[in-house]
Amino acid sequence: MGSCYRHYNIKYSWQNRPGTPILAMVLIAVLSWKLIPGASAALGQLKPLIFEEQLLWVSGTVGSVSTYRIPLISFTPKGSLLAFSEARKGSSSDVGAKFIAQRRSTDKGVTWGPTSFIVDDGMVADGLNLGSVVVDEETGSVFLIYSLCAHYYHCNVSSTFLIESIDDGLTWSRPRNLSKELGTKMFAPGPGYGIQKRLPPKQGRLIVCGHGTLEGDGVFCLLSDDHGGSWRYGGSLKSIPYNQPKKASDFNPDECQAVELPDGSVVINVRNQYFYHCNCRMVIHSNDGCDTLPLENLRFDETLIDPAVAAGALLKNKVLFFSNPADLHKRVKLTLRWSLNSGSSWEQETVEVWPGPSGYSSMTSLNGSVEDEKYIFLVYEKGHQELTETISFVKIHLYGGL
Ligand SMILES: *[C@@H]1O[C@H](CO)[C@@H](O)[C@H](O)[C@H]1NC(C)=O
Ligand SMILES: *[C@@H]1O[C@H](CO)[C@@H](O)[C@H](O)[C@H]1NC(C)=O
Ligand SMILES: *[C@@H]1O[C@H](CO)[C@@H](O)[C@H](O)[C@H]1NC(C)=O
Repeated sequence: MGSCYRHYNIKYSWQNRPGTPILAMVLIAVLSWKLIPGASAALGQLKPLIFEEQLLWVSGTVGSVSTYRIPLISFTPKGSLLAFSEARKGSSSDVGAKFIAQRRSTDKGVTWGPTSFIVDDGMVADGLNLGSVVVDEETGSVFLIYSLCAHYYHCNVSSTFLIESIDDGLTWSRPRNLSKELGTKMFAPGPGYGIQKRLPPKQGRLIVCGHGTLEGDGVFCLLSDDHGGSWRYGGSLKSIPYNQPKKASDFNPDECQAVELPDGSVVINVRNQYFYHCNCRMVIHSNDGCDTLPLENLRFDETLIDPAVAAGALLKNKVLFFSNPADLHKRVKLTLRWSLNSGSSWEQETVEVWPGPSGYSSMTSLNGSVEDEKYIFLVYEKGHQELTETISFVKIHLYGGL
Protein backbone atom coordinates (compact mmCIF):
# COMPACT_ATOMS: atom_id res chain seq x y z
CA MET A 1 0.00 0.00 0.00
CA GLY A 2 1.30 3.42 -0.90
CA SER A 3 4.48 2.03 -2.42
CA CYS A 4 3.78 3.57 -5.79
CA TYR A 5 3.89 7.05 -4.20
CA ARG A 6 7.36 6.75 -2.79
CA HIS A 7 8.85 8.63 -5.67
CA TYR A 8 7.02 11.78 -4.60
CA ASN A 9 8.90 14.29 -2.57
CA ILE A 10 7.08 15.51 0.49
CA LYS A 11 6.29 18.65 -1.48
CA TYR A 12 4.82 18.64 -4.91
CA SER A 13 2.57 20.90 -6.85
CA TRP A 14 -0.67 19.81 -8.31
CA GLN A 15 -2.90 20.93 -11.11
CA ASN A 16 -6.20 22.46 -10.31
CA ARG A 17 -7.78 21.31 -13.52
CA PRO A 18 -6.24 19.30 -16.33
CA GLY A 19 -4.27 21.73 -18.41
CA THR A 20 -4.30 24.55 -15.89
CA PRO A 21 -1.10 24.35 -13.87
CA ILE A 22 -0.99 26.45 -10.72
CA LEU A 23 1.88 28.49 -12.09
CA ALA A 24 -0.20 29.54 -15.09
CA MET A 25 -3.06 30.53 -12.82
CA VAL A 26 -0.77 32.58 -10.64
CA LEU A 27 0.63 34.19 -13.77
CA ILE A 28 -2.86 35.00 -15.03
CA ALA A 29 -3.68 36.42 -11.62
CA VAL A 30 -0.57 38.60 -11.62
CA LEU A 31 -1.15 39.72 -15.20
CA SER A 32 -4.77 40.64 -14.68
CA TRP A 33 -3.83 42.49 -11.53
CA LYS A 34 -1.36 44.48 -13.61
CA LEU A 35 -3.86 45.07 -16.37
CA ILE A 36 -6.75 46.15 -14.19
CA PRO A 37 -5.54 48.92 -11.92
CA GLY A 38 -6.88 48.60 -8.41
CA ALA A 39 -8.30 45.13 -9.04
CA SER A 40 -6.69 43.77 -5.89
CA ALA A 41 -7.51 46.78 -3.74
CA ALA A 42 -10.69 45.35 -2.23
CA LEU A 43 -11.79 41.80 -1.71
CA GLY A 44 -13.62 40.99 -4.89
CA GLN A 45 -16.30 38.46 -5.69
CA LEU A 46 -16.22 35.19 -3.79
CA LYS A 47 -14.79 32.56 -6.13
CA PRO A 48 -12.85 29.89 -4.21
CA LEU A 49 -9.90 28.55 -6.19
CA ILE A 50 -7.26 25.94 -5.40
CA PHE A 51 -4.14 28.05 -5.32
CA GLU A 52 -1.49 25.63 -4.13
CA GLU A 53 -1.41 22.03 -2.94
CA GLN A 54 1.33 19.96 -1.34
CA LEU A 55 1.55 16.65 0.45
CA LEU A 56 2.40 16.93 4.14
CA TRP A 57 2.59 13.21 4.83
CA VAL A 58 2.94 10.16 2.59
CA SER A 59 2.11 6.81 4.14
CA GLY A 60 4.65 4.02 3.96
CA THR A 61 7.67 6.24 3.39
CA VAL A 62 9.15 6.37 6.88
CA GLY A 63 10.42 3.20 8.51
CA SER A 64 8.59 3.52 11.80
CA VAL A 65 5.23 4.69 10.44
CA SER A 66 2.80 2.69 8.36
CA THR A 67 0.00 5.18 7.76
CA TYR A 68 -0.85 8.80 8.40
CA ARG A 69 -4.49 9.59 9.07
CA ILE A 70 -6.80 12.10 10.79
CA PRO A 71 -5.34 15.45 9.70
CA LEU A 72 -5.86 18.55 11.83
CA ILE A 73 -4.80 22.11 11.09
CA SER A 74 -4.82 25.29 13.15
CA PHE A 75 -3.67 28.87 13.03
CA THR A 76 -1.68 30.18 15.97
CA PRO A 77 -1.99 33.67 17.48
CA LYS A 78 1.48 34.46 16.07
CA GLY A 79 0.30 33.67 12.55
CA SER A 80 1.85 30.23 12.11
CA LEU A 81 0.06 27.14 10.84
CA LEU A 82 0.27 23.84 12.70
CA ALA A 83 -0.71 20.56 11.07
CA PHE A 84 -1.12 17.34 13.01
CA SER A 85 -1.94 13.74 12.15
CA GLU A 86 -1.97 10.28 13.66
CA ALA A 87 1.19 8.43 12.61
CA ARG A 88 0.03 4.83 12.88
CA LYS A 89 3.04 2.67 13.59
CA GLY A 90 2.04 -0.83 12.56
CA SER A 91 -0.92 -0.67 10.21
CA SER A 92 -3.65 1.60 8.87
CA SER A 93 -6.09 0.40 11.57
CA ASP A 94 -7.76 2.79 14.01
CA VAL A 95 -6.43 0.64 16.84
CA GLY A 96 -2.73 0.13 17.45
CA ALA A 97 0.26 2.15 18.66
CA LYS A 98 0.71 5.63 17.21
CA PHE A 99 2.64 8.88 17.32
CA ILE A 100 1.13 12.31 16.97
CA ALA A 101 2.94 13.87 14.02
CA GLN A 102 3.27 17.64 13.66
CA ARG A 103 4.54 19.99 10.94
CA ARG A 104 4.74 23.73 11.31
CA SER A 105 4.70 26.56 8.79
CA THR A 106 5.71 30.13 9.59
CA ASP A 107 5.13 31.46 6.06
CA LYS A 108 1.41 30.83 5.68
CA GLY A 109 1.77 27.33 4.28
CA VAL A 110 4.35 27.99 1.55
CA THR A 111 6.96 25.84 3.27
CA TRP A 112 6.66 23.40 6.16
CA GLY A 113 9.19 22.34 8.76
CA PRO A 114 10.09 18.68 9.16
CA THR A 115 7.79 16.20 10.88
CA SER A 116 8.22 15.93 14.60
CA PHE A 117 6.58 13.24 16.67
CA ILE A 118 5.25 15.18 19.64
CA VAL A 119 3.50 12.30 21.44
CA ASP A 120 4.43 8.61 21.46
CA ASP A 121 1.93 6.21 23.06
CA GLY A 122 4.53 3.44 23.36
CA MET A 123 3.40 0.12 21.97
CA VAL A 124 0.00 -0.17 23.63
CA ALA A 125 -2.64 -2.26 21.88
CA ASP A 126 -5.35 0.39 21.32
CA GLY A 127 -3.17 3.49 21.27
CA LEU A 128 -4.04 7.16 21.01
CA ASN A 129 -6.54 8.82 18.71
CA LEU A 130 -6.79 12.44 17.51
CA GLY A 131 -8.15 14.75 18.39
CA SER A 132 -8.84 18.47 18.52
CA VAL A 133 -6.54 21.45 18.41
CA VAL A 134 -7.83 24.59 20.13
CA VAL A 135 -6.23 28.02 20.46
CA ASP A 136 -6.74 30.44 23.32
CA GLU A 137 -6.23 33.77 21.57
CA GLU A 138 -6.27 35.64 24.88
CA THR A 139 -3.30 33.75 26.37
CA GLY A 140 -1.63 32.50 23.18
CA SER A 141 -1.77 28.85 24.28
CA VAL A 142 -2.38 26.05 21.81
CA PHE A 143 -3.96 22.88 23.20
CA LEU A 144 -4.11 19.47 21.56
CA ILE A 145 -6.61 17.01 23.03
CA TYR A 146 -6.63 13.30 22.22
CA SER A 147 -7.94 10.04 23.62
CA LEU A 148 -6.34 6.80 24.76
CA CYS A 149 -8.05 3.39 24.65
CA ALA A 150 -10.94 4.76 22.60
CA HIS A 151 -11.93 1.34 21.27
CA TYR A 152 -11.48 -0.80 24.42
CA TYR A 153 -9.14 -2.98 22.40
CA HIS A 154 -7.17 -4.98 25.03
CA CYS A 155 -7.84 -2.19 27.52
CA ASN A 156 -10.88 -1.16 29.51
CA VAL A 157 -10.33 2.40 30.76
CA SER A 158 -10.48 5.27 28.27
CA SER A 159 -8.71 8.52 29.05
CA THR A 160 -8.74 12.00 27.57
CA PHE A 161 -5.35 13.71 27.39
CA LEU A 162 -4.18 17.25 26.73
CA ILE A 163 -0.86 18.78 25.76
CA GLU A 164 -0.21 22.51 25.65
CA SER A 165 2.22 24.71 23.74
CA ILE A 166 2.96 28.24 24.91
CA ASP A 167 5.65 28.87 22.28
CA ASP A 168 3.74 28.69 19.01
CA GLY A 169 3.95 24.92 18.63
CA LEU A 170 7.73 24.66 19.03
CA THR A 171 7.55 22.65 22.25
CA TRP A 172 4.76 20.87 24.09
CA SER A 173 3.99 20.18 27.72
CA ARG A 174 3.90 16.70 29.18
CA PRO A 175 0.53 15.00 28.60
CA ARG A 176 -2.08 15.87 31.23
CA ASN A 177 -4.76 13.29 32.03
CA LEU A 178 -8.06 15.19 31.88
CA SER A 179 -9.98 12.05 32.91
CA LYS A 180 -8.97 12.83 36.48
CA GLU A 181 -11.47 15.71 36.36
CA LEU A 182 -13.80 14.43 33.62
CA GLY A 183 -14.12 10.77 34.54
CA THR A 184 -13.31 7.94 32.18
CA LYS A 185 -16.30 7.94 29.85
CA MET A 186 -14.78 7.51 26.41
CA PHE A 187 -14.54 10.87 24.63
CA ALA A 188 -13.03 11.22 21.16
CA PRO A 189 -12.47 14.94 20.45
CA GLY A 190 -13.38 16.31 16.99
CA PRO A 191 -11.60 15.37 14.93
CA GLY A 192 -10.99 18.96 13.93
CA TYR A 193 -10.47 22.16 15.87
CA GLY A 194 -12.03 23.41 19.07
CA ILE A 195 -13.22 27.00 19.28
CA GLN A 196 -12.88 29.95 21.59
CA LYS A 197 -16.06 32.01 21.86
CA ARG A 198 -15.28 35.43 20.42
CA LEU A 199 -18.79 36.81 20.92
CA PRO A 200 -21.28 36.71 23.80
CA PRO A 201 -22.63 34.59 25.33
CA LYS A 202 -19.71 32.95 27.17
CA GLN A 203 -17.04 35.05 25.50
CA GLY A 204 -13.55 33.55 25.91
CA ARG A 205 -14.87 30.04 26.61
CA LEU A 206 -12.96 27.13 25.05
CA ILE A 207 -15.26 24.53 23.48
CA VAL A 208 -14.09 21.12 22.25
CA CYS A 209 -16.85 18.89 20.93
CA GLY A 210 -16.41 15.22 20.12
CA HIS A 211 -18.15 11.90 20.38
CA GLY A 212 -18.50 8.87 22.66
CA THR A 213 -18.16 5.12 22.31
CA LEU A 214 -20.14 3.05 19.83
CA GLU A 215 -22.98 2.22 22.23
CA GLY A 216 -22.65 5.35 24.36
CA ASP A 217 -22.14 7.44 21.25
CA GLY A 218 -23.39 10.96 20.69
CA VAL A 219 -21.94 14.46 20.59
CA PHE A 220 -20.45 15.75 23.84
CA CYS A 221 -18.70 19.08 24.41
CA LEU A 222 -15.86 19.87 26.78
CA LEU A 223 -15.85 23.41 28.14
CA SER A 224 -13.21 25.52 29.85
CA ASP A 225 -13.99 28.99 31.22
CA ASP A 226 -10.52 29.51 32.69
CA HIS A 227 -8.24 29.29 29.65
CA GLY A 228 -7.76 25.55 29.84
CA GLY A 229 -7.06 25.41 33.58
CA SER A 230 -10.07 23.18 34.23
CA TRP A 231 -12.46 21.30 31.97
CA ARG A 232 -15.96 19.94 32.37
CA TYR A 233 -18.66 18.46 30.15
CA GLY A 234 -21.26 20.84 28.74
CA GLY A 235 -24.11 19.91 26.43
CA SER A 236 -24.66 16.54 24.82
CA LEU A 237 -26.72 15.07 22.02
CA LYS A 238 -27.03 11.38 22.81
CA SER A 239 -27.57 8.51 20.41
CA ILE A 240 -30.84 6.55 20.50
CA PRO A 241 -31.10 3.91 21.91
CA TYR A 242 -28.42 5.21 24.28
CA ASN A 243 -25.89 2.72 25.69
CA GLN A 244 -27.33 -0.03 23.53
CA PRO A 245 -26.15 -1.65 20.31
CA LYS A 246 -27.15 0.21 17.16
CA LYS A 247 -28.78 -0.89 13.92
CA ALA A 248 -28.86 0.68 10.47
CA SER A 249 -30.86 3.96 10.50
CA ASP A 250 -30.54 4.46 14.27
CA PHE A 251 -29.91 7.98 15.53
CA ASN A 252 -26.18 8.15 16.15
CA PRO A 253 -24.47 11.57 16.14
CA ASP A 254 -20.72 11.02 15.89
CA GLU A 255 -17.61 12.95 14.79
CA CYS A 256 -18.22 16.68 14.61
CA GLN A 257 -16.91 20.20 14.00
CA ALA A 258 -18.20 23.24 15.91
CA VAL A 259 -18.22 26.77 14.44
CA GLU A 260 -19.20 30.06 16.08
CA LEU A 261 -21.60 32.01 13.87
CA PRO A 262 -21.70 35.82 13.54
CA ASP A 263 -24.66 35.97 15.99
CA GLY A 264 -22.65 34.27 18.75
CA SER A 265 -24.48 30.97 18.48
CA VAL A 266 -22.52 27.77 17.88
CA VAL A 267 -23.38 25.37 15.09
CA ILE A 268 -22.01 21.82 15.20
CA ASN A 269 -21.83 19.90 11.97
CA VAL A 270 -22.10 16.18 12.78
CA ARG A 271 -21.41 12.80 11.16
CA ASN A 272 -24.64 10.83 10.87
CA GLN A 273 -23.15 7.41 11.60
CA TYR A 274 -26.09 5.13 10.74
CA PHE A 275 -27.80 7.42 8.20
CA TYR A 276 -30.79 8.37 10.33
CA HIS A 277 -33.28 10.25 8.12
CA CYS A 278 -30.79 10.71 5.24
CA ASN A 279 -27.28 10.04 3.95
CA CYS A 280 -26.45 13.59 4.97
CA ARG A 281 -25.07 15.73 7.77
CA MET A 282 -26.79 16.48 11.05
CA VAL A 283 -26.55 20.07 12.29
CA ILE A 284 -27.21 21.20 15.84
CA HIS A 285 -27.31 24.77 17.17
CA SER A 286 -26.44 25.94 20.66
CA ASN A 287 -27.42 29.40 21.84
CA ASP A 288 -25.66 29.17 25.20
CA GLY A 289 -22.04 28.41 24.29
CA CYS A 290 -22.67 24.64 24.27
CA ASP A 291 -24.00 24.46 27.83
CA THR A 292 -26.86 22.67 26.09
CA LEU A 293 -27.44 21.05 22.68
CA PRO A 294 -31.27 20.96 22.62
CA LEU A 295 -32.84 18.27 20.45
CA GLU A 296 -35.29 20.82 19.06
CA ASN A 297 -32.30 22.68 17.58
CA LEU A 298 -31.34 19.66 15.45
CA ARG A 299 -31.88 19.52 11.73
CA PHE A 300 -30.66 17.49 8.77
CA ASP A 301 -28.90 19.24 5.92
CA GLU A 302 -29.95 17.32 2.82
CA THR A 303 -27.64 19.38 0.60
CA LEU A 304 -24.64 18.13 2.53
CA ILE A 305 -24.73 14.54 1.34
CA ASP A 306 -22.21 12.44 3.22
CA PRO A 307 -20.96 8.82 3.38
CA ALA A 308 -20.49 9.06 7.22
CA VAL A 309 -17.10 10.66 7.71
CA ALA A 310 -15.40 13.47 9.63
CA ALA A 311 -15.92 16.73 7.72
CA GLY A 312 -14.52 20.24 7.90
CA ALA A 313 -16.36 23.49 8.62
CA LEU A 314 -15.03 27.03 8.94
CA LEU A 315 -16.42 30.55 9.11
CA LYS A 316 -14.34 33.14 7.25
CA ASN A 317 -15.53 36.71 6.66
CA LYS A 318 -19.10 35.63 7.49
CA VAL A 319 -19.01 32.90 4.83
CA LEU A 320 -19.47 29.35 6.14
CA PHE A 321 -17.30 26.77 4.35
CA PHE A 322 -17.82 23.01 4.44
CA SER A 323 -15.59 20.20 3.17
CA ASN A 324 -16.31 16.48 2.83
CA PRO A 325 -16.26 13.63 0.33
CA ALA A 326 -19.59 14.61 -1.22
CA ASP A 327 -21.05 11.21 -2.03
CA LEU A 328 -23.96 9.26 -0.56
CA HIS A 329 -21.98 6.06 -0.01
CA LYS A 330 -18.30 6.33 -0.83
CA ARG A 331 -15.39 8.36 0.45
CA VAL A 332 -14.53 10.03 -2.84
CA LYS A 333 -14.80 13.50 -4.34
CA LEU A 334 -13.49 15.87 -1.68
CA THR A 335 -15.66 18.94 -2.20
CA LEU A 336 -15.69 22.47 -0.85
CA ARG A 337 -19.06 24.19 -0.42
CA TRP A 338 -19.93 27.58 0.95
CA SER A 339 -22.93 29.34 2.40
CA LEU A 340 -23.65 33.05 2.63
CA ASN A 341 -26.31 32.59 5.32
CA SER A 342 -24.56 30.52 7.98
CA GLY A 343 -25.64 27.21 6.44
CA SER A 344 -29.37 27.86 5.87
CA SER A 345 -28.62 27.18 2.22
CA TRP A 346 -25.50 26.51 0.16
CA GLU A 347 -24.29 28.18 -3.02
CA GLN A 348 -24.78 26.00 -6.08
CA GLU A 349 -21.23 26.35 -7.25
CA THR A 350 -18.74 24.04 -5.53
CA VAL A 351 -15.03 23.34 -5.82
CA GLU A 352 -14.06 19.73 -6.34
CA VAL A 353 -10.74 19.52 -4.53
CA TRP A 354 -10.00 15.92 -5.50
CA PRO A 355 -12.19 13.50 -7.49
CA GLY A 356 -10.60 10.31 -6.14
CA PRO A 357 -10.53 8.59 -2.74
CA SER A 358 -10.66 11.20 0.01
CA GLY A 359 -11.62 11.07 3.65
CA TYR A 360 -11.31 13.25 6.73
CA SER A 361 -10.71 16.96 6.29
CA SER A 362 -10.22 20.05 8.42
CA MET A 363 -9.86 23.77 7.73
CA THR A 364 -8.41 26.90 9.28
CA SER A 365 -7.49 30.45 8.34
CA LEU A 366 -5.26 33.27 9.49
CA ASN A 367 -6.36 36.80 10.10
CA GLY A 368 -4.59 40.01 10.79
CA SER A 369 -3.63 41.30 7.34
CA VAL A 370 -5.52 42.04 4.13
CA GLU A 371 -3.63 39.16 2.52
CA ASP A 372 -4.87 36.78 5.24
CA GLU A 373 -8.49 37.61 4.38
CA LYS A 374 -8.03 36.04 0.96
CA TYR A 375 -7.20 32.47 1.97
CA ILE A 376 -8.44 29.46 3.82
CA PHE A 377 -6.37 26.32 4.39
CA LEU A 378 -7.56 22.73 4.12
CA VAL A 379 -5.94 19.42 5.04
CA TYR A 380 -7.47 16.15 3.89
CA GLU A 381 -6.84 12.45 3.37
CA LYS A 382 -6.14 11.85 -0.30
CA GLY A 383 -5.24 8.87 -2.45
CA HIS A 384 -5.45 7.31 -5.87
CA GLN A 385 -6.50 3.82 -4.74
CA GLU A 386 -6.93 4.34 -0.98
CA LEU A 387 -7.63 7.50 0.95
CA THR A 388 -4.93 6.46 3.45
CA GLU A 389 -2.13 7.10 0.96
CA THR A 390 -1.37 10.74 1.78
CA ILE A 391 -2.37 13.80 3.76
CA SER A 392 -2.55 16.86 1.58
CA PHE A 393 -2.52 20.58 2.36
CA VAL A 394 -4.43 22.99 0.13
CA LYS A 395 -4.27 26.75 0.11
CA ILE A 396 -7.55 28.09 -1.26
CA HIS A 397 -7.80 31.61 -2.64
CA LEU A 398 -11.30 32.88 -1.94
CA TYR A 399 -11.43 35.53 -4.63
CA GLY A 400 -10.40 33.71 -7.79
CA GLY A 401 -6.68 34.39 -7.37
CA LEU A 402 -7.03 38.18 -7.57
C1 LIG B 1 -9.53 -4.95 32.04
O1 LIG B 1 -8.45 -5.25 31.15
C2 LIG B 1 -7.43 -6.04 31.69
C3 LIG B 1 -6.33 -6.15 30.66
O2 LIG B 1 -6.85 -6.39 29.37
C4 LIG B 1 -8.02 -7.41 32.11
O3 LIG B 1 -7.02 -8.17 32.72
C5 LIG B 1 -9.16 -7.18 33.09
O4 LIG B 1 -9.80 -8.40 33.39
C6 LIG B 1 -10.21 -6.24 32.52
N1 LIG B 1 -11.20 -5.91 33.51
C7 LIG B 1 -12.49 -5.91 33.23
C8 LIG B 1 -13.38 -5.55 34.38
O5 LIG B 1 -12.94 -6.16 32.14
C1 LIG C 1 -6.26 8.86 33.61
O1 LIG C 1 -7.00 9.11 34.77
C2 LIG C 1 -8.05 8.19 35.01
C3 LIG C 1 -8.83 8.70 36.21
O2 LIG C 1 -8.00 8.86 37.32
C4 LIG C 1 -7.44 6.82 35.24
O3 LIG C 1 -8.48 5.87 35.48
C5 LIG C 1 -6.68 6.43 33.98
O4 LIG C 1 -6.05 5.19 34.17
C6 LIG C 1 -5.63 7.47 33.67
N1 LIG C 1 -5.05 7.15 32.38
C7 LIG C 1 -3.79 6.84 32.22
C8 LIG C 1 -3.37 6.43 30.85
O5 LIG C 1 -2.98 6.87 33.12
C1 LIG D 1 -9.59 37.38 13.89
O1 LIG D 1 -10.77 38.07 13.55
C2 LIG D 1 -11.76 38.08 14.54
C3 LIG D 1 -12.97 38.80 13.99
O2 LIG D 1 -13.40 38.20 12.82
C4 LIG D 1 -11.24 38.71 15.81
O3 LIG D 1 -12.24 38.69 16.80
C5 LIG D 1 -10.00 37.96 16.26
O4 LIG D 1 -9.47 38.55 17.42
C6 LIG D 1 -8.97 37.90 15.17
N1 LIG D 1 -7.87 37.08 15.58
C7 LIG D 1 -6.61 37.44 15.38
C8 LIG D 1 -5.57 36.47 15.83
O5 LIG D 1 -6.30 38.47 14.85
